[in-house]
Amino acid sequence: MPTSSTKESRREFLQSSLPGATAKLTVGATLAAIAPQVLALEATPSQKLRVALVGTGSRGTYMWGESLEQEFPDRVDTVGLCDINPLRVEYAQSLYKDPPAVFTDFETMIRATKPDVVIVTSPDATHAQYAIAAMQLGCDVICEKPLATTAKDCQAIHDAEKQTGKKVIVTFNARYSPRTIRIKELIAAGAIGDIYSVDCSEMLDLDHGASYFRRWHAYKANSGTLLVQKGSHIFDQVNWWLDAEPVEITALGDLRKYGRNGPFRSTHCRGCNHKSECELYWDITKDKRAMQLYVQCEQADGYLRDACLYREDIDIYDTMAVQCRYDNGVMFNYSLNVTSPIEGQIIAFNGSRGRIELRSYHRQPWNPEMDTELRLITNDPYAMQLLTPEQGEGGHGGADPAIKRSVLYPDTPDPLGQRADSRAGIMSSILGIAAVRSIETGETMRVADMIDLS
Ligand SMILES: NC(=O)c1ccc[n+]([C@@H]2O[C@H](COP(=O)([O-])OP(=O)(O)OC[C@H]3O[C@@H](n4cnc5c(N)ncnc54)[C@H](O)[C@@H]3O)[C@@H](O)[C@H]2O)c1
Repeated sequence: MPTSSTKESRREFLQSSLPGATAKLTVGATLAAIAPQVLALEATPSQKLRVALVGTGSRGTYMWGESLEQEFPDRVDTVGLCDINPLRVEYAQSLYKDPPAVFTDFETMIRATKPDVVIVTSPDATHAQYAIAAMQLGCDVICEKPLATTAKDCQAIHDAEKQTGKKVIVTFNARYSPRTIRIKELIAAGAIGDIYSVDCSEMLDLDHGASYFRRWHAYKANSGTLLVQKGSHIFDQVNWWLDAEPVEITALGDLRKYGRNGPFRSTHCRGCNHKSECELYWDITKDKRAMQLYVQCEQADGYLRDACLYREDIDIYDTMAVQCRYDNGVMFNYSLNVTSPIEGQIIAFNGSRGRIELRSYHRQPWNPEMDTELRLITNDPYAMQLLTPEQGEGGHGGADPAIKRSVLYPDTPDPLGQRADSRAGIMSSILGIAAVRSIETGETMRVADMIDLS
């Protein structure tokens, strides 16, 4: 099955073939299946998929949403949209040429529209309840990252998938960026021999970094902290690059700039008395899309998209350091700093025969010759090659359009195993969840003590 290739078979394939080496449903609730008993995500390319989507915010509306109608008219029939905000779901509906039905209750939508596949783009902590309910109602699931924010939810998704025979695909779009693919190919081809360790330093600048503190992500109960919400991208990439699973995790985390550390505070930027003195004041009224998607809908649920990032009750971290040991012995160091003057990543792989280094800057206060540099540095011969691949067209360097094609046509060849199944989703989430638990307890966490995927 293309979505659930085992670790062994993927590793064997890579070694042999690479060129050049709502909130009303509760987790675990039992629901009678109403949708067809086939794996919709394995349907032949000529079959049209009935698709429903929950969470019509930015990702649900602008990445998935009506783009499916435009880009995949022969494959996708969007039959339903659901959001707890009735105004936002109607706004999302208004963007379609052939508008799908809209709902504010998930189970009602599934029963009324009988989709084959449900796309989950609601806030992180709600993914598990919708993924599980969708499977119990007979649907396959395409879920945004992170798959879940607690170990209990990871376990419940795994159990539901086994019980229902349905499938969950997690949309790790980062796996589809050209530089990520190039690294995967190099490692799998043995370009630097056995990998001993990975160092990753991830920096979010004050624009991007602060954005998470303005909304629901700022609370652990919603996002699991940025180690789950944001870290899930890189954790999945490292798991996938190494073809390995995390075993032991230790972490530190602190909140140094945002939340209670702010020099003053308000409810949100509009109407704030500190506009002129706040370095992070954001005038949402200048952003047309944000006005339509959030401000014009806020009377229905009070979701303030430009909420003050100095709110006292913010309980996530802005400065984080994680150490992880993998089941193949690789050591992984990760730091996430979201108060940086640079937006980007520096990742290095240290191997028995050399080193791969990726430096990727998206925004920085100078003009580097290249935004992204991928270097292969070998011991024998003692040499360096610059291998920076071209970025593709479309969101996230071409990764967003690529993942849509990949998950909607799962019969297309997937030699690198880019299509991520629930196990990959769980392994990425659990690394962040374990890191948060380690910060809270001061102890080293063992994945085997947190989940059982047997
Ligand atoms: N893969 C990526 O690169 C990427 C990028 C952005 C967001 N995401 C993911 O997409 C998801 C949505 O993020 P976003 O930026 O669109 O957030 P958002 O705040 O713009 O949208 C969330 C939507 O969910 C709705 N909602 C809130 N609680 C709900 C509930 N209980 N049931 C149903 N709907 C509910 C809100 O009303 C809102 O419309 C998150 O899981 C996020 O991690 C992924």
